[in-house]
Amino acid sequence: IVLSAIVALGAADGDDEFANYTVTNRRFPDDFRFGVATAAHQIEGAWNLDGKGPQIWDTFFHEHPEKVDDGSNGDVATDSYHLYKEDIRCMNEVGVVFYRFSLAWSRILPDGTLNNINQAGIDYYKNIFKELKAKGIRSFVTIYHWDIPTALQEKGGWLNPEVVDWYVAYAKFCFETFGEYVDNWITINEPKQICHAGYGLGVYAPGVVSNGIGEYVCARHVLLAHAKAWRLWDEKYRPIFHTETTIVLDSDWYEPATYSESDAIAAETKRQFIFGMYANPIIHGNWPKVMIDNIAEFSKKQGFNESRLPAFSNEEIELIKGTYDNLAINHYTTYMVKSIPEPTYEVSFDADSGVATYQKDTWETAAIDWFKVVPWGMGKLLRWLKHTYGDQVFLISENGVSDRTGTLRDQHRIDYIKNYLSHLLDAIYDGGVNVKAYTLWSIIDNFEWTQGFNGKLGIYYVNQSDPSLPRIPKDSSKYYANVIKTKCLVD
Ligand code: NOJ
Repeated sequence: IVLSAIVALGAADGDDEFANYTVTNRRFPDDFRFGVATAAHQIEGAWNLDGKGPQIWDTFFHEHPEKVDDGSNGDVATDSYHLYKEDIRCMNEVGVVFYRFSLAWSRILPDGTLNNINQAGIDYYKNIFKELKAKGIRSFVTIYHWDIPTALQEKGGWLNPEVVDWYVAYAKFCFETFGEYVDNWITINEPKQICHAGYGLGVYAPGVVSNGIGEYVCARHVLLAHAKAWRLWDEKYRPIFHTETTIVLDSDWYEPATYSESDAIAAETKRQFIFGMYANPIIHGNWPKVMIDNIAEFSKKQGFNESRLPAFSNEEIELIKGTYDNLAINHYTTYMVKSIPEPTYEVSFDADSGVATYQKDTWETAAIDWFKVVPWGMGKLLRWLKHTYGDQVFLISENGVSDRTGTLRDQHRIDYIKNYLSHLLDAIYDGGVNVKAYTLWSIIDNFEWTQGFNGKLGIYYVNQSDPSLPRIPKDSSKYYANVIKTKCLVD
């Protein structure tokens, strides 16, 4: 009895719970779909060719080359502007059902507005759609993956309330121009990174530092822009094209450090600050209650006249509520969460959540330092999503692992895919979570933002020192092809 009590106490987290876990040999449901993903700035290159205007990442890295780990930038990337057929050839080889990629706003509308429309940009995307169609691959299109045109950033970007109209005009143009080719739309990718990293910490473009203030303004605008575009599509374009539209949210898993009540509350608070911040408005109309309460209380103690978290009006709540067809989640890693006895009352997003997070040294590290490999986090996240948001259709819109070398013998990537998918399968069959798709990031090694080409996540290697940038299959591409073909986690 004593021993089992100790064991139970020791079983404080997923590491213990899944210590003897073996990969499941269940088969994916027949209608489960597998795909791969990329984003415009990470692959296209041709940053100023054929009429494309500059966007914030072009400008950010040109002005601050020191912000990229390896001193590279996205000017050429994997040159998919010219080599997109090569990318699609790889996808065809792997047998994916769909390709998730993004449209570059400033390639289509160089200054961000309809005053100037770039036909060459439109043609580029139409050619991709045609090539995908010829290969029987469905398109899953992200309208905005972090690259607002520089001309709009000069007017404040995501901090200017007018951005809602700028974005909706651009989205409308995309629905009209590309609607007939697109199988699934995504309005915006990872608003947390756009706002927290871009307008809070300032580590991502456009590099605005306004921690605990600007990022909330940004989040409000992102949510309104998404909601208006979704409603427009729902009313006007859904009846014509019969496609689905959603937003992509990123979420790590947040695991309580101990079984104490305070750590359980801390972990749930963190989940609400990270995922709930965007999911709660989209599902229920407003920010999560814990955010409203914490930030109001902290703001008051800090001497602000009103909460740093801007409120939504009742009309806005009605506008935002229910603007999704499914919940699409990017998931990579896990953090442990501990409560801290006294809030620090710093003006910052992390301080507002009032908890401490850390990753364990024992977890395997991928090339990107935040990026530890914790497969059970996938299963726990999916079960929590169902528990918190009910019986929704869930899509994994990104998952994958990096290394620095791009080695073709990437057994660690095979293990990562296998183990994460294994926990996903258990969530489907044991947890009853309705997961319908899995998207691997990425088909090719590409430009990983501030990690440059040091963060290689592809299942095809792209040799950056060979000017023709050939795509070479890694072992993981064959493994993934087998998973897709057999719908099992075979070797
Ligand atoms: C999320 C982002 O959407 C994508 O652009 C990025 O490359 C991957 N995560 C990997 O970090």
